[in-house]
Amino acid sequence: DKYFTCKFRFGHVKVKGVTMPKRFAEMEEDITNWEVNDGDIWVCSFPKTGTTWTQEMVWLIANDLDFAGAEENIQIRVPFLEISSIFDYRDLRKTNKDFNPPVFLDDSLGYIKSLPSPRLMKTHLLWKMLPKQIQDGTKQPKIVYITRNPKDTCISYYNHARLLEGYSGSFDTFCRLFLAGKVSYTPFWDHLFSFWDRRHLPNVLFLKFEELKADLPGVIRKVAAFLEKDLSNEQVDKLTEHLSFENMKRNPAVNYELVTDLYKKFQLTQAPDGVFMRSGQIGEYKVKMTPEQIKEFDDWTEENLRGRDFSFDI
Ligand code: A3P
Repeated sequence: DKYFTCKFRFGHVKVKGVTMPKRFAEMEEDITNWEVNDGDIWVCSFPKTGTTWTQEMVWLIANDLDFAGAEENIQIRVPFLEISSIFDYRDLRKTNKDFNPPVFLDDSLGYIKSLPSPRLMKTHLLWKMLPKQIQDGTKQPKIVYITRNPKDTCISYYNHARLLEGYSGSFDTFCRLFLAGKVSYTPFWDHLFSFWDRRHLPNVLFLKFEELKADLPGVIRKVAAFLEKDLSNEQVDKLTEHLSFENMKRNPAVNYELVTDLYKKFQLTQAPDGVFMRSGQIGEYKVKMTPEQIKEFDDWTEENLRGRDFSFDI
C-alpha cells in the first residue's frame, strides 16, 4: 500500500469496501444523513465514463436549452458533491498564499446545500454511499447514471490521474491498480451493478457512453422524456451540435481548463500538456493496450459478467 499511495498525491481509504480518497472519511457521515430533495437531479457515474458530457446534456434539458446560462462553468451549474475530499485545498493554501479556491471546490457539500431547489449535482459515489433517504426510497430525486467499457475507461482514468491526481506510475501499474480495485471509486463492477440493478426504478435512468456516441439525438430524447421535458426536432439538433466532442473541447465552461490551469500553475500535475477533453473515442484500447493487458481486462470482465444480464457489446 505504501507503494500504491506514493504514486498519487493523496492517500486512499476503504469505505464500505470502496477505495476512496482519504479525505472522504470526513464527509461520509454528512452525505449519508443529508436531507435531499425529490426535485433534484443527480448525475451519477464511475470516473471517466462520460460524466461531464451527461452533466451538460442534463443541465441544458432541465433548463430548457438556456445556452446563454450554459456559459457559466459546469462546476457551478452541476457541482461535484464530494470534490472537496479529493484534494486538500487547505494544505495548498498554507504554502501558496495567493491560492484562493472557489467555494464549490473548498466546501462542495456546503455549496450544494446552499443552492435553491431543484439542484443538479454530480457524484461518483456508489449507490450504497448515497444519502440514506435515496437508498430507502423516502426521497426520489431523478438519477441519471452513465457508464463506459472498462478498457477505455481505464485509459481515460490513467490520463486523468496523471493530470489531476499526481499519479506518477506507469500505465501498466495503473491497469493493475484499476483491476485490483485500488483506484478511487473501484471496484468498477460493484459501481456499475449498484445502479444497473436499480435501472427499473422510476427515478433511475441508465446510460452508456457507447450509446451516446452511436445515437446522441436518441439519447437526448430519452433523457428529455425522463426529465419530463418536450424538445422539438430543431432543439434536439441544436443540442446534439452543442454536445459534439469538438464543441465541448473548445468550450471553457465544460472543458475543465479552469481546474487544469490551476493544477498546472501550482505544478500539481504529472501531465503539463494534458487536457481533460482528450480524445472521446471508443476502442482506443486497441492501440493503447498490449495484447496481455487486453486479455487481463477481458478475462476479468468475463468473470464479473458471468450470470449477469449486462454487456458492453464492443
Ligand atoms: P477520453 O479521456 O477517453 O477522451 P468524465 O467526464 O466522466 O471525466 O469523462 C471524460 C471522458 O469523456 C473523456 O474521455 C472525454 O474526452 C470524454 N468526453 C467528454 N465530452 C465528450 C463528448 N462530447 N464526446 C465524446 N467524448 C466526450
